[in-house]
Amino acid sequence: MLNQRALKILIAYFSWRGATAKVAARLLNDAAGHKVTILRASPKKDREYWQWLILSFFPGSYVDIDLGLLDVSKYDLILMGSPKWTVSCPPFNRLLKSLRGTAGKRVGYFMTYGGFDAERYVRASLRALESLKMEPIGSLAVKRVLTEGPGYLPMVDGFWKHLQDEI
Ligand SMILES: Cc1cc2nc3c(=O)[nH]c(=O)nc-3n(C[C@H](O)[C@H](O)[C@H](O)COP(=O)(O)O)c2cc1C
Repeated sequence: MLNQRALKILIAYFSWRGATAKVAARLLNDAAGHKVTILRASPKKDREYWQWLILSFFPGSYVDIDLGLLDVSKYDLILMGSPKWTVSCPPFNRLLKSLRGTAGKRVGYFMTYGGFDAERYVRASLRALESLKMEPIGSLAVKRVLTEGPGYLPMVDGFWKHLQDEI
């Protein structure tokens, strides 16, 4: 079984205010014993909330980030994370665009959100990953308020267990 050996795992995510970063950090913790690379993408230029809000209404819109092209072909599992931003999250969109070697790669998607429309957004994100010919094997949506206490930890641990079963 694959999960009995050390897997090469990439955790690549965007987090503006830190909630998604907490989920990524817990996944890093859960994956101890595997060979994990964790990358947080940041926009080259930060913007005010209202500016991000406007940009987020345009599907597929993107902005420059501090990461270059990312060849993921050597990883056994890729975990991609983003906050939910209305229709679309431009820094995350840019992160998706910078991926190379995605065909056939197993991917898990994690997201944090304020409180509404989470399922639709997860489905749209999974479709975006599928359009890169990746194979989604799990997803997790965590309400931001749960990241302010320990409430999100069992959810992330459960997600990690699920991924281990799938791979
Ligand atoms: C520009 C913008 C748009 C957002 N749109 C939504 C939304 O449509 N639905 C929702 O539930 N939360 C929305 N949120 C809230 C974020 O999804 C939530 O706070 C998330 O946990 C933030 O993650 P972060 O701390 O990693 O940046 C939005 C936040 C921002 C900044």
